[in-house]
Amino acid sequence: MRKKIVAGNWKMNQDLESGKALFAEIVNGAKQEITGEQLVVVCPPSIILSELANSAKDSSNVFVGSQNCHQKDSGAYTGEISAAMVKSTAAEYVILGHSERRQYFGENEELLAQKVDAALKNGLKPIFCIGETLEERNSNRYFEVIKSQLEGGLFHLTAEQFADIVLAYEPVWAIGTGLTASPEQAQEIHAFIRAELAKKFGQEAADNATILYGGSCNPGNASSLFSQQDIDGGLIGGASLKAGDFLAIIKALN
Ligand code: PGA
Repeated sequence: MRKKIVAGNWKMNQDLESGKALFAEIVNGAKQEITGEQLVVVCPPSIILSELANSAKDSSNVFVGSQNCHQKDSGAYTGEISAAMVKSTAAEYVILGHSERRQYFGENEELLAQKVDAALKNGLKPIFCIGETLEERNSNRYFEVIKSQLEGGLFHLTAEQFADIVLAYEPVWAIGTGLTASPEQAQEIHAFIRAELAKKFGQEAADNATILYGGSCNPGNASSLFSQQDIDGGLIGGASLKAGDFLAIIKALN
């Protein structure tokens, strides 16, 4: 049975005080909204990760993750944070390959494959993001783009290692734009991803893989997206900054 997850990516938002308050609302609300095995993962700025990870210790369904990590364990890399450091805070997840990291920080498939390895080696579960730009969609190259992102970032793994990966399909044209992929558009890609995973890692691994949708997901569209056969939850940006909206999205996963 694959896990259903709603993950919140706070990006560069929330300081210590506002982050603690928002997180407390999420943890309390999740107790009411979650009726089954679903998981919530909150990814705050790294500087408050430890504080939030500590306060989530007793929660059975809310976890925290970082938004990035370095590919090396330690060393002279000023300003960077390693997977081992993230893990030491009791965080369990790390977002890797987000389109903003690819676009603004030049992260390519080769680097991302190294980051995936570092995360797995240190016991973190990567939430690995893939997705096409508007230009790639309009020129009908999106299947090809998704396939090469999967191959470059993940296909060096064994099926056993792959079991710790959560995938997030995030069409770049839908991130922070208010444009959402229709449930049918998203389902088409999710089914394609699952088929590619089956070819590489086997049907069982593909059936067990959690594939999230991300890109302007909100309380109004979450249910129709999450009801698609191959959509197992969401990676939420803007709407994860408002407890009420985020909890409504979590509820849509039931
Ligand atoms: P959004 O961001 O929900 O604000 O579109 C999603 C993401 O970047 O993960």
